[in-house]
Amino acid sequence: MKRRNVLKMAAAASTSAGAGLLVVGRGAGASGASGAAGATTAGAAVGPAAAGEGPDSGDLMPGMKGMAKPGDAPAPAQLTPFVDAMPRLVDAVPVSATADTDYYATSIKSGYAQLAPGKPTAVIGYGGSFIGPLIRAQRGRQVAITYTNDTTAGAVVHLHGGHVPSPSDGFPTDELAAGATRTYTYPNQQRGATLWYHDHLHMMESVNVYNGMHAMYILHDPAEDWLNLPSGRYDVPVLLRDAYLDADNALYYDPTLDWTVLLANGKNRPYFPVGRRKYRFRFLNASNHRFLTLSLSDGSSLVQIAGDGGLLPAPAVSPTLALSSAERGEVIMDFSKYPMGTQLYLLDSVLGQILRFDVTETCAPEPHPGPQPAALSTLPTLKQATNTRDITLSLSADGNYFYINGQTFDPNVVMASIPVGTTEIWQVTDVSGWEHNFHIHLVQFRVLDINGAAPGPSMQGLKDTVPIPANGSVRLQATFADYPGKYVFHCHLLEHASYTGMMARMDITA
Ligand code: C2O
Ligand code: CU
Ligand code: CU
Repeated sequence: MKRRNVLKMAAAASTSAGAGLLVVGRGAGASGASGAAGATTAGAAVGPAAAGEGPDSGDLMPGMKGMAKPGDAPAPAQLTPFVDAMPRLVDAVPVSATADTDYYATSIKSGYAQLAPGKPTAVIGYGGSFIGPLIRAQRGRQVAITYTNDTTAGAVVHLHGGHVPSPSDGFPTDELAAGATRTYTYPNQQRGATLWYHDHLHMMESVNVYNGMHAMYILHDPAEDWLNLPSGRYDVPVLLRDAYLDADNALYYDPTLDWTVLLANGKNRPYFPVGRRKYRFRFLNASNHRFLTLSLSDGSSLVQIAGDGGLLPAPAVSPTLALSSAERGEVIMDFSKYPMGTQLYLLDSVLGQILRFDVTETCAPEPHPGPQPAALSTLPTLKQATNTRDITLSLSADGNYFYINGQTFDPNVVMASIPVGTTEIWQVTDVSGWEHNFHIHLVQFRVLDINGAAPGPSMQGLKDTVPIPANGSVRLQATFADYPGKYVFHCHLLEHASYTGMMARMDITA
């Protein structure tokens, strides 16, 4: 019963978005999914699995338990870890540039990616890639990206963490229709940070992101230069995400299954050759809903220097780095203490070994040895808050939906109307008994406290996404300085956002 309603939402979404994206549903089964990999026509990846009776297998949400019938899910791929090297993300090349703007152009289309040895995987992404081109932006210099939607369904592009005027923010119903072209403009008037961009189509973002509509966006900031952080080939963005691949390496979408394939820059559990020196790794958890807790196999601490919105005030040194979906964490790793030939693993607390660093490269001597400076950056002073807002995350009585303040997402209903220039404190409280994470568009906020306690060092910087503990409460503060228009805030567990309506509209008013 519960399940059916949730699936009705998903079905409605696929209809309204144009069913073309959903070439392969669970009804077509594994053969359909795997057939796509060998097809010559522009295929598509997967759509939501169809309804079926099944065991309460998933713990992602009550309403989505047991989407798959017992035994119905295709057998998973049996993958050997550490066969492929982790690729570097491919830099986007501007098509033109003016005094103040870099122009890019790409299309959203289907393609194939080699996620693991064996059959290629059908994907839909920016430029037809599983991970879209890496945008390197400079603070104060605009980026304008023109997208052509070469799929048969709608799409919406959102720059996650970006301080962006409403028309370019990617409101879920502000659709880039199949065949259409549209330019999104990003001012880059914010602190340097590791941002990312991904699909945000109303009720379809979870499937679209799963299929490959995700990419990274690095905003360089000259204010970081004095730190002499590792740069160039020693500054490595890493997009981490999970997936379920069937025996033919096809992406299979059923969020109630355990997605145990972990892809780093689009390769199954790869290795990465490094030299005996410092590196800057920019980790993004682009998983639909998996929480990652990273650590190193030799027990060394991770030195985190930046979070979602840029540099922390001071390095956060900890044996673990926790990233809920959409969060970013930048770390400095110093391999100079390891002898040549060392193999060091990046671990996740659940998935185990996910990436291996092989100390095998000869590289130029370390130009900046020694510890990181104890102070990295000065955060903007907190303004006096003029409004407090309570946000309650709850579960509907029938168990079908997660509510924000008692409502599921209606793009026409304004839940928060915020006059431009306002500084607000939001108290986000979970009463559903499930862990969520909370993301606000447009702003970078500060976490004031978590369950009443001051946030740890890794949460001291600017953030756009924060985990909300089950039955817990987080207070955060944001200043809505400019850009009147419509935006959203939502749970960034994408299935919660897409299927249970865990999203709300906020309007910044002039
Ligand atoms: Cu990462 Cu509303 O998005
Ligand atoms: Cu966002
Ligand atoms: Cu949620």
